[in-house]
Amino acid sequence: MQRRNGVYGLAVALGLMLITGCSESDATAGKAAAHPGEETYNRFCFSCLASGVAGAPKLGDKAAWAPRIAKGQALLLQSTLRGVPPGMPAMGLCTSCTAEDLETVVDYMVQQSR
Ligand code: HEM
Repeated sequence: MQRRNGVYGLAVALGLMLITGCSESDATAGKAAAHPGEETYNRFCFSCLASGVAGAPKLGDKAAWAPRIAKGQALLLQSTLRGVPPGMPAMGLCTSCTAEDLETVVDYMVQQSR
């Protein structure tokens, strides 16, 4: 009797592990890993690039970004570092960002707008 309970308990535990294990992996599998540039975008660029303030190309607007992406990410980075007067401030107002940080954000914006 005791042995049967043990086997029964093990079967239940295994069943639960399969069910919970599966559901967790399904949940995480669906969520793409956050792009390393996303957080900086949300902190510094979002305010203008989400709504297209002052003619800024809206994130995800393929038509607005296509001619910019065609210039290449190196040129987009230069625009970000220097700014594009009158509307785009130098460094995108992220004065603590390194050129590498901004390169990563530009990559995120291009990925989202292609
Ligand atoms: C770190 C944050 C930011 C990044 C990475 C960023 C990046 C960019 C990039 C790559 C472009 C396209 C440049 C080109 O086509 O050569 C752009 C354009 C623009 N951005 Fe930003 N931006 C940021 C923050 C901002 C902020 C805060 C504002 C508003 C105060 C802004 C306003 C604009 C405007 C108006 C344009 C269009 C410029 C034009 O073509 O005349 N951006 N931005």
